[in-house]
Amino acid sequence: MFWTPEPDMLTIDHLTVEYYRRGKVIPAVRALSLSIAPGETLGLVGESGSGKSTVALAVLRLIPPQDGTIREGRILFQDQDLLRMDEEALRRVRGKNISMIFQDPFTALNPVMTIGEQMAEGPAAHGMVVSLEEALTHVQLDPGRVLKAYPHQLSGGQRQRVLIASAILTRPQLLLADEPTTALDVLVQKDILELLFSLQKELGMGVLLISHNLGLVARYTQRIAVMKDGEIVEQGAPKELFSHPRHAYTQELIGALPKLLYSRP
Ligand SMILES: Nc1ncnc2c1ncn2[C@@H]1O[C@H](COP(=O)(O)OP(=O)(O)O)[C@@H](O)[C@H]1O
Ligand SMILES: [Mg+2]
Repeated sequence: MFWTPEPDMLTIDHLTVEYYRRGKVIPAVRALSLSIAPGETLGLVGESGSGKSTVALAVLRLIPPQDGTIREGRILFQDQDLLRMDEEALRRVRGKNISMIFQDPFTALNPVMTIGEQMAEGPAAHGMVVSLEEALTHVQLDPGRVLKAYPHQLSGGQRQRVLIASAILTRPQLLLADEPTTALDVLVQKDILELLFSLQKELGMGVLLISHNLGLVARYTQRIAVMKDGEIVEQGAPKELFSHPRHAYTQELIGALPKLLYSRP
């Protein structure tokens, strides 16, 4: 009779992250709160330097300790605070329950290992037996060729498909995708995102899609959070955001888009 919302799978609560540079403290994320429900897609948009990648890195506690620190906040994943979990427990979550596709596709793949060798590492670390062939077929790659290939033998789009296949090997509940298609040309970007979100539906994963491209994010996510200077200035469904942007910065982002991009199908 009453609709009870599903409890959120990921809740970021007042996250504050600081970097140190030349003896100065740089606040990159400031008291930021957001949440993602199971199976939900949330877009995180904002200009370069607004702190988007830092949010994703903080979720997996991957901020290099020599560079900065998570000053305060809680990050609840299925009711456990990732920020207070011991390393051992965190390793079990990282790459298994929560996967990440990193911003830079070149550093994400090891140039001297075959795709097959490196894809096998993640599941092996979690003691899981998975079919790499099946995963590659799933992202429309030919396993016979790709498993034996080195990263430089694949196109940018193929490398990105490999990263997606790797990220979903363990059937994570949450995928953090940091600018997963920025390095690709526009048509390939569209193919990759279509693929990512068809897999998302199939697996029922929650996805945090990070991008500086509001038009792109609006096509694929149910909700968008707009970030500026380490804070979320506005969030809402893409339709609402486009028709009634409340914040001047959101209006600016929309104004900067070519018309074609935000005529949603
Ligand atoms: N490892 C780092 N050391 C010092 N400063 C950093 C580091 N990573 C990011 N920053 C700074 O933190 C801010 C947020 O960066 P980032 O999270 O990468 O933003 P975005 O992903 O939105 O482009 C920027 O000012 C950036 O220069
Ligand atoms: Mg970034």
